[in-house]
Amino acid sequence: MPSILQDLRTRFDRALVSAFGDEFAGTDPLVVAASNPKFGDYQANVAMSLAKPLKQKPRDIAAKIVEHLEVGDLCEEPEIAGPGFINLRLDRAFLEAQLQAIQTDDRLGVEPASPQRVVIDFSSPNIAKEMHVGHLRSTIIGDSIARSLEFLGHDVLRLNHVGDWGTQFGMLITYLEEVYPQALADPDSVEMGDLVAFYKQAKKRFDADEEFQKASRQAVVELQTGDDRRLKAWKLLCDRSRREFQDIYDWLDIDLTERGESFYNSMLPDVISELDEKGLLEENEGAKCVFLDGFTNKEGNPLPLIVQKSDGGYNYATTDLAALRYRVREDKADRVIYVVDMGQSTHLAQVFQVAAKAGWLPEQIEAVHVQFGLVLDDKGKKFKTRSGETVRLRDLLEEAVDRARKDLEQRLEADDRTESPEFIDRVAKVVGISAVKYADLSQNRTSNYSFSYDKMLDLKGNTAPYLLYAYARVRSIERKGNVDRDDLRSGKVILEAEEELTLSKHILSFSDVVREVESELMPNRLCNYLYELSQKYNQFYDRCPVLTSEEPERTSRLVLCDLSARTLKLGLSLLGIEVLERM
Ligand code: ARG
Repeated sequence: MPSILQDLRTRFDRALVSAFGDEFAGTDPLVVAASNPKFGDYQANVAMSLAKPLKQKPRDIAAKIVEHLEVGDLCEEPEIAGPGFINLRLDRAFLEAQLQAIQTDDRLGVEPASPQRVVIDFSSPNIAKEMHVGHLRSTIIGDSIARSLEFLGHDVLRLNHVGDWGTQFGMLITYLEEVYPQALADPDSVEMGDLVAFYKQAKKRFDADEEFQKASRQAVVELQTGDDRRLKAWKLLCDRSRREFQDIYDWLDIDLTERGESFYNSMLPDVISELDEKGLLEENEGAKCVFLDGFTNKEGNPLPLIVQKSDGGYNYATTDLAALRYRVREDKADRVIYVVDMGQSTHLAQVFQVAAKAGWLPEQIEAVHVQFGLVLDDKGKKFKTRSGETVRLRDLLEEAVDRARKDLEQRLEADDRTESPEFIDRVAKVVGISAVKYADLSQNRTSNYSFSYDKMLDLKGNTAPYLLYAYARVRSIERKGNVDRDDLRSGKVILEAEEELTLSKHILSFSDVVREVESELMPNRLCNYLYELSQKYNQFYDRCPVLTSEEPERTSRLVLCDLSARTLKLGLSLLGIEVLERM
C-alpha cells in the first residue's frame, strides 16, 4: 500500500496534468503535512509556485487543481485557503480501512523501495589507537542508517574502513619486536595490555631515538614489500585491536564487514597512473597533486589534493580514492555513504571531486558525506574523564548500564517489586545501551551534542527509557486484559475520539518518516516521530479507557494500542534499539 503522502502526490500529479496539460507531469505538488491541525492533515502549496509559469492567480489555479483532483476516497472535500493553499483532511472511513490493512502486515504498510546497492562506510577506527566517542557516533549513526535502508529492501554493504595501514606501523612493529620479542613466535604468551598505552610508549620511543626511527622506516618498507616477519607483526597488532573493537560492537549489536585501508594498498600505484593518464596530475614541491575547483587556502590560492608524497609514499586521500573507485567499479554501488565526523568534510569533498573528474564517480552515483558534530560534556567542553583523559568506550557503556541498573533497583524498591537477577541484568543492559544510542540519534547529527547520563536515562522527555516505557505499558495492558494479539489482527477499528484520530494518522505516517530517513539520512527524524507517537499514545490512553470500555470499542482501542506498540518496536529496531516486554 502506498504511503498516504506518496498517494496524495500521485493524485496531484494526475490532477495537474489534466488541468494544465502534459508539460506539468512530474511537477512537485509540494504536498506536506499541515503545519496546524486546524487546517487539516496535509496541504499542497503548488498553486503559488505555478502562478508565474501559468500567468494566473494562485487561487484560480488552486480551484482548477481541486476541480480535477480525485481524492474522494481519501479525504473530505478539499478547501482552498489564503493565497491558494489546498488543505486536505483525511476521511475517517479511509483511516479505518488503512489501519485494518496494516493490522495483518508485519511491515506496517511500509512498501519496499526499488532496491539500490548501497555502501556505508562507518565506525572505521584506527588500529592500535583509541576508538573514541567520534567513532562511537559514527558507529551508532551508521548502523541506524544501514538498518533503515536494509528494511526498505536495499542491498547494503556495511564497511569498516579501519586505519590499518600507514607509516605508524613501522614504529609499532619495531617497538613490538623490541619489547615483546617472544610475541611473534607465540602471540598468546604476551599480555600487551592496553594497545593505546602501547601506542603512546612506542611514540615516545620513536620521538626520542634516531636509531629507532631509522629502524621504523626500514620496517615500513619491508612491510610494504610483503616481508613475512613484518606482516606477521602487523597482523598481530591488528588482531589485538580487532578484539577490542569487537567487544564494543558486541555490546552495541553492530554488524560490520572489515575492509581496512590495507585492502587498497596494492591498488594505489594504479590510482596514480590513472590520474596521470587523464591529465589530472601536477607536481607541487615534489609531491603529486590534483588541483581542484573551489578549494583555496587562506591566501586565496588554489589548494591541491596531494595523492603521492615527495618520498613516493601514498596517503589517506590516495586510499580513499582507491576505495571509492573500488566501491563503484567492483562493489557496483549506486550510493556510497560516508559516516564520518565533520572535521573531514573538506577531505571527503576533495576526494569526491577528484573521483568525479577521473570518471570514477559517474553522475548517477551518489557519494554522500553523512557528517556529525563533536561529543561534548554537559558544560560544553570536549568529553573527557575527570582526570582529563579520553573516555574509553567500554567504560562509557558500562557506566550507562550501571546507572540504568541503579535506577531500576530504586524503582523496584519503591514499588515493592522483586525481580530475578537475570531480569535486572537484562533490563539494565537494554536500557543503558539504548539510552546511549538514542541520545546520539535523537540529535540533529550536524550539531555537537552534549553527553549526559542523567539526561539520557531520564524516564521523561525525548529519551530511550521514555519510549521503552510506552512500549512496555501497552504490553502490560494486553497482559492485564488477557488479550490474544492474534485475535486483534482481525479486530475492527472504529475511530471516534479526537485522540484516536490523531494517533491513527500518526501511526499511518510511519512509512513517510522511514522514506525521509532514506533520502535525508537523518535518524533524528525517526526519533522525533517515535517520541511523538509515544506522546500521542499517552494522550489517547489518558482520554480513552481501553480495558473497561464496552465492545466493539474495547477491541478497537486494543487494536490502536497494539499498532502503537508494533510501530514503536519496528521504529526502534531501525535505530538499533531492542524493546522490553516488561521493565
Ligand atoms: N579512520 C578514520 C578516522 O579515524 C575514519 C575513516 C573514515 N572513512 C573513510 N573512508 N575515510 O578518522
